[in-house]
This record gives sequence, structure tokens and C-alpha cells, in this order.
Amino acid sequence: MNATREFDDAGSGPAVVFLHGFPFNRVMWRAQIEFLSVRGYRCVAPDLRGLGENKSASEVNTMDDMARDVATLLDELKIDRAVICGLSMGCYVAFEFAHLFPSRVSALVLAGGRCEGPDKAEKQSREQQARRVLEQGFAPSVESILQSLLAPQTLAEKPEVVARVREMVAQTDPRGAAAAQRGMAARRDYCGDLAQVSVPTLIVAGRDDGVRKPIDAETIHRGIKGSRLETIRDAGHLMNMEQPEVFNRMLWHWLDSMRSVPGAIATGSQRTPSET
Ligand code: MLT
Repeated sequence: MNATREFDDAGSGPAVVFLHGFPFNRVMWRAQIEFLSVRGYRCVAPDLRGLGENKSASEVNTMDDMARDVATLLDELKIDRAVICGLSMGCYVAFEFAHLFPSRVSALVLAGGRCEGPDKAEKQSREQQARRVLEQGFAPSVESILQSLLAPQTLAEKPEVVARVREMVAQTDPRGAAAAQRGMAARRDYCGDLAQVSVPTLIVAGRDDGVRKPIDAETIHRGIKGSRLETIRDAGHLMNMEQPEVFNRMLWHWLDSMRSVPGAIATGSQRTPSET
């Protein structure tokens, strides 16, 4: 990763790493970074491999590749442990990161996630979508992507959010998108990992999410002992952008409540004085 351009790093305090969804980039976390970085948290948001300004696309960018990139970035930033907050594809990367580097995860936030691996139909569909985006880019599909990812209320009443999402999709490099689609098609089933998760976990669902069903969040909730499940009204798949005030306050209060739990999120992630 290019240490100067491909991630945001703002604030100081316990680190929270934000992992974006597909076909997006770190810009989707802007409201969370602005909010939490002035409330005692160090917010780190990378562009995942092949997406946003991160141009390291090969033919397949796996969730494992992306999780290892995150670990490399945390090494560079001298962050031992962090809260890992993923949305959708970012949840797959968070599951992979928690599996590979359990001691580096102080807490998990899983928004718009699911744990099931892909079946044959999903793999075929992802390969078709990868080929289509390589041939045609996102122009023919951007409007249907918006319709499926955003809540009716967002589409009707929040043109600035719709425009920001449209812009992120339009900026996505087709090669990076195809590589991520193939990476998601090759992902593991993470449902078997849930029982191993022993850190505090917040699961967030958008009530009007058009690409996730309530059962997806409930399955993760049931599988992770002690986890908390919250559902946001008038929010679709991009709940953090669609209802930023609600999402931010929920996350902030939950993170703050964890700071009083011994051994939870307060250690190992402070920015050192030379880094501020
Ligand atoms: C995302 O928002 O990251 C995608 O919906 C993930 C997926 O295609 O499973």
C-alpha cells in the first residue's frame, strides 16, 4: 500500500479500522471518521486492494489478500490491536482478519454482513458480473446498483447521498472490481468462525437493506456469543452513509461502553507522540 495516498488516518486514541464495501472505497466512511476522530478514536480507513486509489489489482483479489494488506498497514502505523469495522465485503475481510490475526482484534463491528460462503449460482453470477464490468464498466449497471443498495427513503429524500454513492461506483476501476468479485466468489464460509469470536461484537443491519435479509444479521448475532444486534430504520445496505447520525452515535456509545471493559479496546492502539 502507498502510505501517503491510499488510506485515511485521523484522530488519536484506540484505533478503529474501517473496511469498505463493494464497489466502493474509503470515502464511504467519511462521516464516521469526521465524527469519531474528534471523540477520542484513531480512525484508519484503507482503500482495499484494487479499489479506490489502491491500484494493486491482479486477476483475483481475495479476502485473505485484503486482510493481510490491512495487517501490513497496521504494522506500518504501529497499531497492535484495533476495532475492526466492516461493511458488507468489508465484513468478509473482517472475518478473514479475525481468523488470521485474532490477537490484533479488540472488537468487531459488522454492518450489512453475512457469513455464508458462496454457492454455485453465486459463483457463476459473480464471474458473469466480473466479465461484464471488464467489458462495459459500471455505466450500464450503476442505477440498478443504487436501487438495490439504498433505502427507498434515501433514494427519494437524500439526493446528496445518492450522488456520492453514484460517484464512488463510477470511480471504481473495472479491473479492481472484477478482481474483487472473483475474490468474493472464492471466499470461505465464515459461519464456522463465529463461535471462535471472543471479542465484543456489534452487528448492524439496515431495515430496508435490499441485498441482505434479516436472517443474515441474526445468524451472525446468534453465532457470536454476547454480540449485540442493532437495526437502523430507513437505511438500506449503505446504512452508515444513509443514516450517519444514527450510525455514528450508535457506534460511539458502543465503543465508549467498551472502554470500561477490562482488556477490551483501550490498549495497544494509541498513536505514539512522534506520530501525532
Ligand atoms: C458489498 O456491499 O460489499 C457487496 O454487497 C458485498 C457482496 O457482494 O456480497
